[in-house]
Amino acid sequence: MQTMQAENKRSLLTAPNSLPLVAPSILSADFADLGNECEKTICAGADLLHLDVMDGHFVPNLTMGPALCSSLRNRMPDVYLDVHLMVNKPMDYIKSFADAGCNLFTGHIEAEGDPIELANAIHDAGMDAGLAINPPTDVEKILPYIEAFDLILVMSVNPGFSGQAFMPQVLSKVDIISEKLRPNQRLQMDGGVGPKTCEACRDAGCDVLVAASAIFGTDNYEKAIAGLRGE
Ligand code: DX5
Ligand code: ZN
Repeated sequence: MQTMQAENKRSLLTAPNSLPLVAPSILSADFADLGNECEKTICAGADLLHLDVMDGHFVPNLTMGPALCSSLRNRMPDVYLDVHLMVNKPMDYIKSFADAGCNLFTGHIEAEGDPIELANAIHDAGMDAGLAINPPTDVEKILPYIEAFDLILVMSVNPGFSGQAFMPQVLSKVDIISEKLRPNQRLQMDGGVGPKTCEACRDAGCDVLVAASAIFGTDNYEKAIAGLRGE
């Protein structure tokens, strides 16, 4: 059932789309009012929701897990859920997030395990597969694995917390990675993406923009989302 749902929603990432997709990172939402916050961003034009999962080891913070993903799935059956795993062992969580209704499961190149095995296991579980790269990691490290994934995530802050400053030096990675992407693969930027930095991300070729504070830190989500998209 969930596998079917995940497969149906894969069109979000594979359909040609000239505008960048906007993915609110719920890390900056009001957790006491999370369902309403998420619905508000979707009504305001967000294309998908980005869930930042942190294990306190890969990054120095603890956030959310499969139970929260499952609650959001029950509340919003049709929303595409993008789960960003900042954990040491992403393989260990594939089944629980697939069962929780996750659509896109993104692990890190810096985490434990073989990226090709990770992509295969994510696909076998019925989800889209993403691979993320941190700012200090050489872009050459990710190049051999790009083909196996549906989305590459270029981190523009050192992961762990929202509200950090964008690191413009990662834009050169986007140039190199985008040359290798097929038309049905996506390039996502995450960290410090906001009114002052989104244009550079779009111009570089990013077609999925993640933003936490630039959306949840404002009182007009519609304006913030349209601005990120360049409208
Ligand atoms: C960083 C997370 C991001 C973060 C973005 O560790 O992966 O998704 O929430 O927050 P902003 O947009 O505020 O930089
Ligand atoms: Zn993230």
